[in-house]
Amino acid sequence: MNIFELLKRDHEKILKSFEELEDAGGEVSGKQDAGQDKLFAGLKQELESHMEGEEEIFYAELREEEDTRALVLESYEEHHVVKALLSELEGMPKDEYWIAKLSVLRENAKHHIAKEEDDVFEEAQEILSEDQSRSMGKRMAEFKKEQMTHK
Ligand SMILES: [Fe+2]
Ligand SMILES: [Fe+2]
Repeated sequence: MNIFELLKRDHEKILKSFEELEDAGGEVSGKQDAGQDKLFAGLKQELESHMEGEEEIFYAELREEEDTRALVLESYEEHHVVKALLSELEGMPKDEYWIAKLSVLRENAKHHIAKEEDDVFEEAQEILSEDQSRSMGKRMAEFKKEQMTHK
């Protein structure tokens, strides 16, 4: 699997986790809900390891390219917002404020994912050879596997 296929598969999984979490939060009462806690922890782990892998493997390379540098710097900022929202959500009771923040996180993540797939990937495909994108995919898969075993 090349890096683009792998990241897209991650994106689908992330969007699905948001759906599951919002479904589970349909009748949020502010009480602790073990099912919801587990879904949120899963989403957070998925998003964080996805962003970290992207930054270390995919963006680290594209950051040095003139055609993708501005897009990469924007992506870093978007990751920063997603990380900040995730850590705020982690420490909050799951009440209506939590639901509002989750919804903003979802909008941010969706926007970011669309931009990656529509703009960043298109530019990156011009820069990376088939061999490079395949070896990046391999490194990303290994990175994620390592993350899973350490958590
Ligand atoms: Fe990203
Ligand atoms: Fe991504």
